[in-house]
Amino acid sequence: MTHQAQPRPAVSRRSPGLAGRARVPGDKSISHRSFMLGGLASGETRISGLLEGEDVMRTGDAMKAMGASIRKQGGEWIIRGTGNGALLEPQAPLDFGNAGTGSRLTIGLVGAYDMKTTFIGDASLSKRPMGRVLDPLRQMGVQVLKAAEGDRMPITLRGPKSTAPIAYRVPMASAQVKSAVLFAGLNTPGVTTVIEPVMTRDHTEKMLAGFGAEIEVETDREGVRHIRLQGQGKLTGRTIVVPGDPSSAAFPIVAALIVPGSDIVVENVLMNPTRTGLVTTLLEMGASIEFLNGRDAGGEDVADLRIRHSELRGVTVPAERAPSMIDEYPVLAVAAAFAEGETLMHGLDELRVKESDRLAAVARGLEANGVDCTEGKDTLAVRGRPGGKGLGGGTVETHLDHRIAMAFLVMGLAAEKPITIDDANMIATSFPEFMGLMQGLGAQIE
Ligand code: S3P
Repeated sequence: MTHQAQPRPAVSRRSPGLAGRARVPGDKSISHRSFMLGGLASGETRISGLLEGEDVMRTGDAMKAMGASIRKQGGEWIIRGTGNGALLEPQAPLDFGNAGTGSRLTIGLVGAYDMKTTFIGDASLSKRPMGRVLDPLRQMGVQVLKAAEGDRMPITLRGPKSTAPIAYRVPMASAQVKSAVLFAGLNTPGVTTVIEPVMTRDHTEKMLAGFGAEIEVETDREGVRHIRLQGQGKLTGRTIVVPGDPSSAAFPIVAALIVPGSDIVVENVLMNPTRTGLVTTLLEMGASIEFLNGRDAGGEDVADLRIRHSELRGVTVPAERAPSMIDEYPVLAVAAAFAEGETLMHGLDELRVKESDRLAAVARGLEANGVDCTEGKDTLAVRGRPGGKGLGGGTVETHLDHRIAMAFLVMGLAAEKPITIDDANMIATSFPEFMGLMQGLGAQIE
């Protein structure tokens, strides 16, 4: 199934103040990695709080196709892994649907196996550049037997008898590329090194260590991270509690900030500093966000966030912050549409290669709803209208992109006129509960 479902438009309208408590689904990055590492480790892995979005389920299916046993019992997922180095050749192409993370990390993982694997995806995924993970794999000796133009899917790989360990400097700020090389390093003799000049989300490093891999991270005087993984070690199954996804929490958070009279709590949100750029930015804009009950959950910081409607002001968001909020720019742009003055966002080049060209999709969606904005090569400037006067009334093209869909539905809750999105189906990739959760807080979305 590669999302051939009929488009399902949705509309959101100006809503009364949002109220209540909500719990967003598990973090998508940690959920993908839980299925992958659990499927690879020896023995049993038990996962609670897993995101049951379509993207993560594709990763689970891929691990099953390569020999892992994955089942759900009550609220828990129970996995019996193959053991590191013991994945089986899949009998059919691995269909990753819309999932960039699942596919890129799995390309890394299987690249180091002497077997033939084919990767396919939906129309959005088939447009996304895969050269960024194929290039380091080629250096390790992996053959790319087939790829569409520009190193895109469908892609067929064959690993060599034995992969060569490399030291790879990641050329763009990408946790997916870092992770793909480290996952390839798991079935490679010797030490695989990833050099990361700009820190990105560190779930792979933390989780590899949690599963017992020999991995060390050193940050040099220039702030460059050197991550060294000893290949072909043993991974051992473990218990994982997945915290709430800050990238999903971003939608009710911004909704509460822009809808007058709102006062909500979003519970159990992951507060890993590589993921909190949006909250930092919103606080600078004058948001009322309180951190309650901060605690450790399985080695990650989590907190409950209380958010109240706030008069926001425009700020400049520095390029260095982009990796810690890379998936949150669409909804930040929505917050900016209701702020006093201009919000200027720098360093957005990676937005061009997400599930859609998110920089263009956001700018077109804002324009369709009366927002004055300027799209640069890697910048976006949004001039806000406090109170949302004159905003809304447009239809937004979502381009198979879940975050564009959710961001503009949030915008409609505070705009003067309703906002329609052309297709809400893709929301299920990362946040299947979105509609019900937002309606439960009082949002008028249908
Ligand atoms: C992710 C990394 C980010 C992010 C994606 C999830 C991950 O992508 O946009 O949603 O789990 O590693 P890049 O690594 O391409 O920036």
